[in-house]
Amino acid sequence: ARADLKGVLLEINKAAAQYFYVQLKSEHGAQALDYLKRRELDDETIKGFGLGYSNKYSDDLYRYLKSKGYADEMIAKAGLITVDEKKGVYDKFWNRVMFPIMDANNRVIGFGGRVMGDAKPKYLNSPETVIFDKSRNLYGLNRARSSRRPYFLLCEGYMDVISLHQAGFTNAVASLGTALTPGHASLIKRYVQEVYLTYDSDEAGTKAALRAVPILKNVGISARVIRMDPYKDPDEFIKNLGAEAFEERIQKARNGFMFSLEILERSYDMHSPEGKTGFMREAARRLTEFEEEIERNNYIEAVASSYHVGYEDLRKLVTKMAIQQG
Ligand code: GTP
Ligand code: MN
Ligand code: MN
Ligand code: MN
Ligand code: MN
Repeated sequence: ARADLKGVLLEINKAAAQYFYVQLKSEHGAQALDYLKRRELDDETIKGFGLGYSNKYSDDLYRYLKSKGYADEMIAKAGLITVDEKKGVYDKFWNRVMFPIMDANNRVIGFGGRVMGDAKPKYLNSPETVIFDKSRNLYGLNRARSSRRPYFLLCEGYMDVISLHQAGFTNAVASLGTALTPGHASLIKRYVQEVYLTYDSDEAGTKAALRAVPILKNVGISARVIRMDPYKDPDEFIKNLGAEAFEERIQKARNGFMFSLEILERSYDMHSPEGKTGFMREAARRLTEFEEEIERNNYIEAVASSYHVGYEDLRKLVTKMAIQQG
């Protein structure tokens, strides 16, 4: 019966996605369609990602799904309605632009919905259900998996993925507001060996990139980091500077480890001997984490040359620390 439950929930989600799409193209969706046009999405992109609109009425989708014969219990299990003993049944998504979330096999497993103005929350997402595990799915993977590029562009948001795909970067995926998990990393590993992190340029995005590098490395994926400054995120970058400039940023992407050292520099006064020594000690400690000798030596060489210290001096320090750590 469990497999059956999943099948029914997938069917309900598919029906909901089709309903939202039809609403977007109807008179009810005029404002939502206008919103997407203002965000420079073309019809082909809207169709390709199956974007939609959830009406203003509080039980519009619910009534539609009932008319298709689905039971309240199932619609609730799909996360599309809230059942309140006093207030009754109402739709989870009202008056939002809808982003269906697909698994790698194009099955709709959940939704994200964005307000068109400044109301909070900006995005509302489906709850986790028996078919929607946020830590094991990536937005855009259904399309990115067939990209010819041998790496993924990993970004934060729905609009980042969509803008990148529209600009020709069809290898973009996102983990949607949740931090990258080992489950995401293993999923990525089925398709590519390399990831370019394209997170937002704010403090939160920088921290998220720093945390993602070791999670990816743990499953054998090498990470590079692309900076989006002076723009907030890939969507804004592409809109302002275009695809060619983004391609240049890809070419200039920094190795994940070297990126983490650049961020580490901020905690030291790099112009004083004590500051720089403290920094080099922490860099050496991190270098001990490379277990394979050739890889470790390559990084020692890169660090020595970037920070103008002797290769042999740094190698000795790293070796000494590795021995102390046992
Ligand atoms: P736009 O403003 O539409 O360009 O969105 P954004 O993707 O740039 O938003 P932001 O960088 O703030 O967030 C990145 C991702 O986090 C979003 O795409 C969502 O998946 C998620 N997110 C953002 N805001 C919220 C929120 O209020 N609630 C939840 N649950 N998720 C959010
Ligand atoms: Mn935010
Ligand atoms: Mn952000
Ligand atoms: Mn953003
Ligand atoms: Mn954005």
